[in-house]
Order: sequence, then structure tokens, then C-alpha cells
Amino acid sequence: MSATHEPVTPRDADALARLRLTGKVAIVTGGTRGIGFAAATTLARAGARVVISSRKAEHVAAAERALRADGLDVTGVVAHMGVMDDVRGLAAHTVEAYDGIDIIVNNAATNPVYGPLQQQDEAVFAKVMSVNVQGPLELCRTAHSVMQSRGGGAIVNISSVGGVSPEAGLGLYSVSKAALISLTKVMAQEWGADGIRANVVCPGLVRTRFSRVLLDDPLVATIADRQPIGRVGTPDDIAGLILFLASDASAFCTGGVYLADGGLLV
Ligand SMILES: NC(=O)c1ccc[n+]([C@@H]2O[C@H](COP(=O)([O-])OP(=O)(O)OC[C@H]3O[C@@H](n4cnc5c(N)ncnc54)[C@H](OP(=O)(O)O)[C@@H]3O)[C@@H](O)[C@H]2O)c1
Repeated sequence: MSATHEPVTPRDADALARLRLTGKVAIVTGGTRGIGFAAATTLARAGARVVISSRKAEHVAAAERALRADGLDVTGVVAHMGVMDDVRGLAAHTVEAYDGIDIIVNNAATNPVYGPLQQQDEAVFAKVMSVNVQGPLELCRTAHSVMQSRGGGAIVNISSVGGVSPEAGLGLYSVSKAALISLTKVMAQEWGADGIRANVVCPGLVRTRFSRVLLDDPLVATIADRQPIGRVGTPDDIAGLILFLASDASAFCTGGVYLADGGLLV
């Protein structure tokens, strides 16, 4: 690869072409802020037509406006990932708007309780598992035949370092993120022959609204000081890896678990 001050050679241009998403249609759940918004921006700038979704109509409208103002081809859909009719509607809406689905980034997630397992009752379990695991499964299952008819596709599931190594206070959330990793591996096994790849991204601590409660915890806030890259991540730190896994640059990668955690789990 050329240093940035050298001209791009034809060979470099070929390598970069594999990151282009021209002609692809992508769904990014929870694409209205944080990591999802950064991912939607990056995928759309790489040439994809992108459907962003989240629960709140005002968030969807504002994000859609901001991305379109950037000249990007983006459509917003209101969909709660814990409501399976919404999830199936999101897939249907995407096909209606853009005539296909090639990429799914399952990014939306919930963590209603920060605290010990004793505070995390049956209702919390049901909510966390439906939004963080069942919704992503239902979206991918609904999109499967559409992707297959287009020769395949790429699924990028956003888990967490907590899915690999559970964090105190994030019990059921960590369980759901571990389940999402396992689900991704099953998708990779079952759908590889259909041309559909599935991979997982595990972010470490990233500054977003979601992590505000964690960053307010003095113990958690010191994590950044103890990891090799001594800072909290930004949504853009995660978006590049999502682009790689969504694109043909990762054509031989499936069932993989990729950390973007500042070296936290080293
Ligand atoms: N930030 C971190 O430190 C960190 C670390 C590890 C993993 N992660 C993972 O990264 C992903 C994105 O998190 P983030 O930090 O970017 O969060 P964020 O800034 O709070 O954004 C969350 C997005 O998801 C949407 N959303 C929330 N609940 C939803 C639901 N039930 N159905 C549909 N959309 C929903 C939100 O919009 P509405 O409010 O309009 O629904 C918003 O667009 C999550 O999977 C999270 O587990 C984050």
C-alpha cells in the first residue's frame, strides 16, 4: 500500500475497489446515532444505498435529513427490533425502496438495567433477548431469500467485548451479546453455501449515548487508561471495520469475531 504522500497506483486502486459498495443495498439498525450512524455514513459514502432504522420517528427523520444533506442515498424506517412485525416490515420496506438487500448491520441493542443479576428480572431478560438476539435473527431470516436471489450478502452483527468476556453490571446484556456471537457462527455455517457471510464486531468502550452510564462509573471510566490504546473509542473507530466486513474486501471472512476495543482484551 502506498504511503499517503505517494500517488495511488492501479494495484492500490484495485485493492480499494473491493471496499466500494456501489450498487449494494444496506440496512443499518439503530442507524440514527452513535456507532450505527457512523456505520450508515461510511457505507453510504462507499456507495451503498442505506436504510437506517430506530424506534423514534423524530430520530429517524433527523438522521435521514443529516445524511441526505451530505448527498447520501439514505431512507429512514421506524422499527423497534424487539417487535418482530416491525423487523419484518423493515426488510419489506427496504425491498420496496431499493429493490433488494445485500448488507445487514445488526447494530441496535438495549441494556435496560445496569447492575447485578438480582435486579435483572424476567421482563428484562425477555426484552434484552428479543431486541439483541431475536430481532437480528428475524431480520436476517426474512432477508435470506432476497440476499440469496442476488448471489449472496454480508451480515455484520454488532456484539461487544462483554459478549466475549462479561463485564460486572452488564450481566444479561453480556449474555445476549454472547448469544449474538453464537448466532452469527450458526448463520455463517448454514448460509455460507448461499453466498451469505456473517461476522461479528465487538466494540470496546465507545463514547455514545449508550455508554454514558458506563462512562459515569468511575471504575469503568478508568478502563481507557489501562488499555494499550489509552483512550475511549469513537463511533468512526468502529465504522471502518464494519465497512471491511460488509464489503468484498472480506470475501474470505465468515463466522469471525473481530475486536475493536483499543486492545482492552489483550
Ligand atoms: N458504546 C459502547 O461503548 C459500546 C460498546 C460495546 C458494544 N456496543 C454496541 O454498539 C451498538 C450501538 O451502540 P451505541 O453505543 O452506538 O448506542 P447509541 O448511541 O445509544 O445508539 C443506539 C441506536 O439504536 C437505536 N435503538 C435503541 N433501541 C432500539 C430498539 N429496541 N430498536 C431499534 N432501534 C433501537 C437508537 O435510536 P432510538 O432511540 O430512536 O431507538 C439509536 O439509533 C449496540 O449494539 C451496543 O451494544 C456499544
